[in-house]
Formats: sequence, structure tokens, C-alpha cells
Amino acid sequence: MVIGANGQLGSDIVKVFSSENVIPLTHKDVEIAEGASVKNALEAYKPDLVINTAAYHRISDCEKNALKSFGINSIGTKNLAIACRENKAILVHISTDYVFDGEKKEPYIESDSPRPLNVYGISKLAGEYYIKYLCPKHFIIRTSGLYGSAKCRAKGGNFIDLMLNLAKEQDEIEVVNDEVLTPTYTLDLARKIRDLIQTDYFGLYHITNNGSCSWHQFAEKIFEFYNLKVNLKAVSAERFASEIKRPRYSVLRNYALEKIGMDDMRKWDEALKVFLSRRKEQ
Ligand SMILES: NC(=O)c1ccc[n+]([C@@H]2O[C@H](COP(=O)([O-])OP(=O)(O)OC[C@H]3O[C@@H](n4cnc5c(N)ncnc54)[C@H](OP(=O)(O)O)[C@@H]3O)[C@@H](O)[C@H]2O)c1
Repeated sequence: MVIGANGQLGSDIVKVFSSENVIPLTHKDVEIAEGASVKNALEAYKPDLVINTAAYHRISDCEKNALKSFGINSIGTKNLAIACRENKAILVHISTDYVFDGEKKEPYIESDSPRPLNVYGISKLAGEYYIKYLCPKHFIIRTSGLYGSAKCRAKGGNFIDLMLNLAKEQDEIEVVNDEVLTPTYTLDLARKIRDLIQTDYFGLYHITNNGSCSWHQFAEKIFEFYNLKVNLKAVSAERFASEIKRPRYSVLRNYALEKIGMDDMRKWDEALKVFLSRRKEQ
């Protein structure tokens, strides 16, 4: 069962499992914040495995609506953990690099202590804890900077769309060069999830493409691919004054995958090239 099946990541997960008996559920079919809705869905379909991609994840909205953020990202995850345990289903849950504070300045591994800086990160971390303590057969997967062929529904697009739109509208584009992450192609992540769940190595995983870059370097690669001459200016995150704290460095190392010999995730810039080439063909 895939929850959030029409989302950015969910739609690629449905794609990579197309030869299996997949139950794709959208927000119309299930409301994870409501225990009864989750219970009914699991009892109706009796899945062996549930992949939850649903979240409330526009960071500024989470900050304004902490109750909703906890209702979906924490209690919603708790509802899934209990329903999966009671129905003997494995739970695969997507979490985030924003559980870290960014002070480490070298890639975070799964055993590093989380210290989220904002409501979104805290509510996602609480969701992880519920799963850890309520549902023994789980895979918690932290990822970062997603893009894919479907739009991110919560954000109305992805960073690539944003840059290409800005390039049409503005002579100069300012992009932050002191926030470092790993952009991750949803199809690569979906394939790795498909491989990982064939194992019974349950637990916490970091899964992103490899390497890292600033948002500014990410933008540079996009414009380079399209051969667009854009006046791209590197600025500090402080330029976009915001009350909301974000980690300045949220690179994840796929350490748990490395330990089981499964980290063959390609570099972020290779994955980006493949994605942009496919997009161009279409
Ligand atoms: N996007 C990123 O860069 C990023 C980075 C790190 C981690 N993540 C994590 O990755 C996951 C997937 O992200 P994404 O970009 O694929 O998200 P997305 O495109 O916004 O998809 C989320 C899906 O979940 C559904 N949904 C939202 N709230 C729900 C609820 N209360 N009950 C049931 N379904 C609900 C949405 O449906 P509606 O749109 O109809 O509400 C949508 O189908 C999230 O858990 C997010 O925290 C994302």
C-alpha cells in the first residue's frame, strides 16, 4: 500500500512497483491524522507492507500551524505504526534531513543525534520515535532535496521548476550558497526502497543521491544543462530574512546502506543530468 500515491515521491514508488499488486492511496482515500481512517484502510486492503510518503511539509506552514504539523507528521505516523503492527504489516516511512541542526559540517550518519531547528523537523522526528517504539518491523528512510517528474504537491513544484520560471521572469536570480544539501532524484530513491524492502534489515536509513552542493551550485547545474545564460548571484541565507531556522548543512551519508553493501546511489549531478535529459525528451 502506498500512501500519498499521487505525490512527487509516491508516484515514482507506484511506478517502480508496477509489476506488483500495489494499492495506491491518495489523500481522498485515507487521512493519516485520523486513527479510524488509517485502521479502516489497513483492514480493508490487508497489505503486507505500507509505504508512507504523506506529510505536512511546507516549512513555513508547519511553523504557523504546529498543531496540524504534529497532527499529521507525528500522530499520523503513530496511527500508521499502530495499524501496521496490529495488521502484521511492515511500515516504510519517509523522514527528512531536517531532523539535524546542520552544525556537524560533515555528512550525518544514522547514529548522529538529531536536533531539529523548526516545527517541521521536530514533528517529523516525533513521527520517527513513534514508529521506533510502536512498530518493530519498519524502515525509516531520511532523505533530502527531492525532485522528480511529478510535482511536489505540498510545494506546488520543485527547485528545478522554480529556477526555470525565475529565469523567464528575472534578469538576475539570487540563490543561497551557504545551505548545503544533496538533491535527490525520486526515481533513484524509489528504486532503492524497492531493493531495501526485499531484505529484513529493518531500521533507520539515510538514502539520498551521493555528494553534496549548495542551492546555488544546484541552480548552476540546471542552467548549465539548458545552456541558459542567467545572471546567477550567490547570496547568504541571511539575505532572505526569515524567522524560521533551517540547517545550513544537511548532507546525509548513506551509512546504514553502505554497511549492508547496498549504497550504489549515483552522484547527485549524474542523477540530475539523467532526469533533465528525460524531461527534455518528453
Ligand atoms: N520534498 C522534499 O524535498 C523532501 C525532502 C526530505 C524529505 N521529504 C519527505 O518526503 C515525503 C514525500 O515528499 P513529496 O515531495 O513526495 O510530497 P508531496 O508531493 O507533497 O506528496 C505528499 C502526498 O501525501 C498526501 N497527503 C498529505 N497529507 C496527507 C494526510 N494527512 N493524509 C493522507 N495523505 C496526505 C498528499 O496529498 P494532497 O496533496 O492531496 O494533500 C500527497 O499525495 C514527505 O514525507 C516529506 O516529509 C521531502
